[in-house]
Amino acid sequence: MFSFFKKKEHTEEKVIQKVEPQDYNNIETIAEYFKNETGVTFEKQMSILKNKVTTFCKKREIHSFAQLLEMIQSNNELKQELIDYLTTNETFFYRELKQIQELVELVKHSSSNVKILCAPSATGEEPYSIAIALLEAAIDPSRFSITGIDINSEALQKAHEARYKERNVRNLSTQLLAKYFTHSNNNYVLHDSIKSLVTFKQFNIFDDSLKTLGKFDFIFSRNMLIYFDTKTKIKAKNILESLRTDDSQEIFFGHADLF
Ligand SMILES: C[S@@+](CC[C@H](N)C(=O)[O-])C[C@H]1O[C@@H](n2cnc3c(N)ncnc32)[C@H](O)[C@@H]1O
Repeated sequence: MFSFFKKKEHTEEKVIQKVEPQDYNNIETIAEYFKNETGVTFEKQMSILKNKVTTFCKKREIHSFAQLLEMIQSNNELKQELIDYLTTNETFFYRELKQIQELVELVKHSSSNVKILCAPSATGEEPYSIAIALLEAAIDPSRFSITGIDINSEALQKAHEARYKERNVRNLSTQLLAKYFTHSNNNYVLHDSIKSLVTFKQFNIFDDSLKTLGKFDFIFSRNMLIYFDTKTKIKAKNILESLRTDDSQEIFFGHADLF
């Protein structure tokens, strides 16, 4: 009955937080893994890679590059996050327009329907530019199909949304902008009529499954090889060439993709 007066026991719990030692060294192992998986090399940018991967790890409470390496080998979601984080998706409408105009001429003079591949498509500006240029040349949409592929899942999500900033559409005339986009809240939203002309799929060009895409009459592969070393560029070129319907048709590489 006297329990009410009993002195409250002092049970101060000490929260012992285990502080894991951090070891963000040996970035070379991550660089090598990333190159083997994606082709992308950071050979000349090791300190940039180290800073970026350190930030990636700290955000996820991953305490060392060794731990990260172990985790991405068994966790596809985390591996994809790292790929999305480390690949560069810079692109814009009507980039290197001359090549797109060349393609338009080839399609115009083709006697059959054509299949076009953009590998990589990044956030969609390139395949959508091709669709716009073909329509502007009065080519009926039933005469072509366009597929865009990329390894970066976030870029493909943006391609599906097709909502662009001013800098992405800077090369388009006001007439094209008015014809194919709705301008709202500082965004240029591409019309569904153009969106429906492009199919996006997630692929790593080095994966065997790439073959399931079939063959293409025209292939664009611009500004991806710049991230590969010479050996990997040649490998990628051979893979892309194996996707051609006509072996004599040159692939449209970017001017910076030089071998
Ligand atoms: C700079 S963008 C080029 C986009 C567009 N072709 C252009 O020229 O504007 C490079 C793209 O290559 C993609 N990429 C890098 N390695 C790849 C791989 N192994 N397979 C597929 N896409 C890859 C990146 O995710 C990125 O979106």
